[in-house]
Amino acid sequence: MTITQPDSVTLRAGCKINLHLEITGVREDGYHELDTLFFPLQEPFDTITIAKGSAGTGLILNCPALSIPPEKNIIYKSWEKFGAATGWKPDLKISVEKGIPDGAGLGGGSSDAAVVLNYLNKYCPNNALSADALNKLAATIGADVPFFLNNVPAHATGIGDVLTPSDITLEGYSLVLICPDVSISTPWAFAAWDKAMLQEPSCNNKKEFLTTATSKDRKHSSRALWLFNSFEVVVYSAFPKLRAYKDKLIEFGAVGAVMSGSGSSIFALYREMEQAARAATALKAEGVATYLHHL
Ligand code: C5P
Repeated sequence: MTITQPDSVTLRAGCKINLHLEITGVREDGYHELDTLFFPLQEPFDTITIAKGSAGTGLILNCPALSIPPEKNIIYKSWEKFGAATGWKPDLKISVEKGIPDGAGLGGGSSDAAVVLNYLNKYCPNNALSADALNKLAATIGADVPFFLNNVPAHATGIGDVLTPSDITLEGYSLVLICPDVSISTPWAFAAWDKAMLQEPSCNNKKEFLTTATSKDRKHSSRALWLFNSFEVVVYSAFPKLRAYKDKLIEFGAVGAVMSGSGSSIFALYREMEQAARAATALKAEGVATYLHHL
């Protein structure tokens, strides 16, 4: 049954953090295998308005916050690939108001792509994809896109696309997420990690190397939920101020703090709301974009 496409709809695209992100291998095609635990957050978020376009105009995409041409936007790629898979390429006008910073490791682009894919599949006349087919299509658009299709806590392996829902809950914790003014390119972070591996002559076991190299981070992290991120070792050495922010979050009594994705955002978990509120106020006073969640 086809659901009637609305003239216009405004949707929220939330973000994710990785409670745990371990690079476990490198594939022949250069992509990295991961063991990661995705956790969705409602804020920051992007606002996406999808309206019917005039006949024959294709996709008209308006995303003023990004300097890339519309055709390079992951939303455009999603619309094209969905059209190729189903034969449905509706005329649409999509506007995106970015709230999720670019290069923060929060999956902003992937979240936008998933919102658009879900929209397309919901209104696709006669030929909607199965959940599995949509998931597979999403993985060809970006490694994090499958997670955002369902947007529930999930453990992921593969390149981040083989998902198992997780019953992890952070209920009772307060979470402070900071988005420093540093934009990190994901391909750069993976390349930096590869280089660090190669430069470590005694590195027979990548996991062992990372455990040693990030022992300071582990010490702070292991007290809660096994927070860990393989990228911290390379990202903090290139951007030392990020480690300083993490240390600051911990000083306010966090049970753990860790970077999300390939950075540069960092989050910390607190048992007491007041500790979290004090940390958030201090980081905000330094001019860092800060989000406080009581979970
Ligand atoms: O899939 P996505 O567009 O998010 O990935 C951006 C880049 O990050 C890829 O082109 C690849 O270089 C790298 N990547 C990787 N292993 C992953 C995910 C991404 O090497 N699991």
